[in-house]
Amino acid sequence: MVTSFKKYQEEYQKSIITPIDFWDHQAQHFVWRRKWDKVLNYDFHKPEVQWFIGGKLNITENCIDRHLPSRAHQTAILWESNDPAEPSRRITYQELAKEVNRVANMLKAHGVFKGDRVCIYMPMVPETAFAILACARIGAVHSVVFAGFSAGSLADRINDCGCKVVLTADGAFRGDKKIELKSIVDEALKNCPSVKTCVVLNRTKLNVTMRAGRDFWWHDQIKTASDFCVAEEMDSEDLLFILYTSGSTGKPKGMVHTCGGYMVYTNYTFKNVFQYKEGQTFWCTADVGWITGHSYILYGPLSAGATTLMFEGVPSWPDMGRFWHVVEKHKVNIFYTAPTAIRSLEKAPLSFVEKYDLSSLQVLGSVGEPINEEAWHWYDKNIGKGKCPIVDTWWQTETGGIMISPLAGITKTKPAFATLPLPGVQPAIMDESGRELTGNLCEGRLAIKFPWPSMARTIYGDHQRFKDTYFSTFPGRYFTGDGCKRDEDGYYRITGRVDDIIIVSGHNLGTAEIESAIDEHSAVCESAVVGFPHDVKGQGVYAFVVTYDPVHEEGHLRNEIKDVVSKIIGPIAKPDKIQFVSGLPKTRSGKIMRRILRKIAEGDVSNLGDTTTLLDPAVVDEIKRGAM
Ligand code: WT7
Repeated sequence: MVTSFKKYQEEYQKSIITPIDFWDHQAQHFVWRRKWDKVLNYDFHKPEVQWFIGGKLNITENCIDRHLPSRAHQTAILWESNDPAEPSRRITYQELAKEVNRVANMLKAHGVFKGDRVCIYMPMVPETAFAILACARIGAVHSVVFAGFSAGSLADRINDCGCKVVLTADGAFRGDKKIELKSIVDEALKNCPSVKTCVVLNRTKLNVTMRAGRDFWWHDQIKTASDFCVAEEMDSEDLLFILYTSGSTGKPKGMVHTCGGYMVYTNYTFKNVFQYKEGQTFWCTADVGWITGHSYILYGPLSAGATTLMFEGVPSWPDMGRFWHVVEKHKVNIFYTAPTAIRSLEKAPLSFVEKYDLSSLQVLGSVGEPINEEAWHWYDKNIGKGKCPIVDTWWQTETGGIMISPLAGITKTKPAFATLPLPGVQPAIMDESGRELTGNLCEGRLAIKFPWPSMARTIYGDHQRFKDTYFSTFPGRYFTGDGCKRDEDGYYRITGRVDDIIIVSGHNLGTAEIESAIDEHSAVCESAVVGFPHDVKGQGVYAFVVTYDPVHEEGHLRNEIKDVVSKIIGPIAKPDKIQFVSGLPKTRSGKIMRRILRKIAEGDVSNLGDTTTLLDPAVVDEIKRGAM
C-alpha cells in the first residue's frame, strides 16, 4: 500500500523505470495455481498485450476462497433493497462461496463450460453478483448488459458474442417503477438463435410467460445444485468478460478483459485509490451493468476482502435523501458515485442531507464524467463535511480500472482535476499533429504510452476495429478519446470527449447510434445528434431532425421520436431536445459539420467559425433561429 505522497512518488518512479519488476511484485499477493513465466509481452502497433504470461489462476479463488480461513463470517456483500422497508441482506464470504458455487453448478447443468458466453440481464440483487462470479468460477465469459437497455440492444449484444444462456429476472424495481425484464428478453430472444436456455429469477412477481424447454425458474434450478464446485483453472490471458461500450460509429464494441491482469490491477487500484482499510464498508453506487460495477462493486473490493454494498434503488426514491439514509443505516466508510447523481441531489433541499448522520464517511469518490467545481464543493462541504478527501477517478470501460486519480488523503486534491496518474500509468498529451506535448502546462488529447495490466485486449470479434479505434490515431500509443489539460503542477484535468461520444448522466452514448435510431421513424429523413451542456446530466442529447414532410404537430412527433429511441436503444438515450430543421449543414462532400451544430446546441452562436465550405450556408441561419 502507498501510504504517503513520498511513497507515491517513489512507487510511481519505480513503476515507470522498472514496470516489469513493479507488476511482478504486485502480482505476488494473489493465489496462483501456477506462477507466470514472463510478466509482459506487448506491441502497441499490432496491437497485442499479454500480462503474467503462462500464469494460471481463478479470480474467484482470489475473491472468495482465499478469504475463508480468516473472514468466513465477515459480510462480503451488503445488499440494500429498492424499497427501504424490505430488510437488507448480508451475505458473508462463506455464504458467497456457497451461492456462487450453486449458480456455477446450475450453469454447468445447462451445458455451460469454459469459454462459453453467458449474458446477464438482471437487476441489482445479490443473485446477479453470484451469477457473475459463477461464470468466472467455471471459466464462462460473462457479458453483463445493463437492465435499462431495450430488447434490440440486448439482442445485438447477445448475438455479437453468441451467448448460450441468458440469466434474467421477471422484473426489476427501480424507484416506483417496475421494469419488465423477462418480456424484454422474450422480445430479444426472437432473434437470438444461439441462446438455448434462459434462467429467470423471481424478483418482482410480475406475470411472465415461460417457454417450455428454454425458460427455467432460478429457484427451481438452484434447489438441486450442489454448493461445491471446483474452480476452473484459467490462463492469465483467458477471457474473463466482455462488456459493451458505445462507439463513435457503428455498433457497440464488446471490450474484452482477461483474468490475470484485470485481477491484479483492480485490486491494486481499489486498495490504493480509496486507501481501503480492513473492516471498512465500501459503497459504489454504479450498476453492475457498467465497468464501474464490475471493477469496484465486485472484483476490486472482493479481491481485497472488503464489505461491498450493493444498492438496488435510485437516489431519488422514496425521496432525495435515500443515499444519505443508506450511508447512515450501514455506516458506509467509502462512498463512490457519479457527478450526475451529485448534481441532482444538490438541487434538493439540504434538509435531505442534514437529517442523516454521515459521520461514518471517510473517503468520497467521483467517476464517469468531469466533475464541475460547484458539484465538487457541494460534495466536499455537505457530504464530506470538509474532512473527507474526494478522489476524482478518471478511467474507461477499456482501461478496466482507475488510471488517473488522487490517492485518498495522500494526493493534494484540486476541484475538477483527476490529478496524477496511478503507478504504472504513463499518460501523454498529444497535439493534433500527433506530437507529444512536453512540459507541464499544455492541452491536447490524452493518450497512454505503456500497457497496464487491466487494459482491454481487443474488441470481441473485431481486432481491426480495436486497432483502428485506439491505436491508429497516435501510432504506438493507446488513444483514450478524451481531451485533457495539464497544469503548472503537472495535474491532469479531463476536459471531455473529443470524438462523437457523449456522456449523459455518466452513460457513454454514441451519437451515430442515436441518429440511426431516430432515422427509424418513418417521418424522419435524416438527423444529427450532438451533446449540449445539461446542469444535471452533464451532457444532454440534442437532435436536429429533417423530416420528409412539414411537421404539423411538433410535440406529438417529438414524443414519437423519443419513444423510438427508447425502444431501440433504451430510455437513457432519449433526446432531451429535438429541433426540426429543413436541412443539415453539410460540406460539399456531404459531411455533416457537427462542429457548427455543437456550437448551436451549446447556445454559442456568435462565432461559428468558417462556414464557407458549406453547401448551403443559409440553412445555418435557419437552424440558429430555431435553436432551443
Ligand atoms: C469516459 C469513459 C470509468 C467508468 C465509468 C465510465 C469519462 C470517466 C471521468 C472523470 C472526467 C471522466 C471520459 C471517459 N470519464 N471518468 N473522473 N473525469 N471524465 O466509463 O462509460 O467507458 O466512459 O467517461 O470521457 O473516456 P465509460
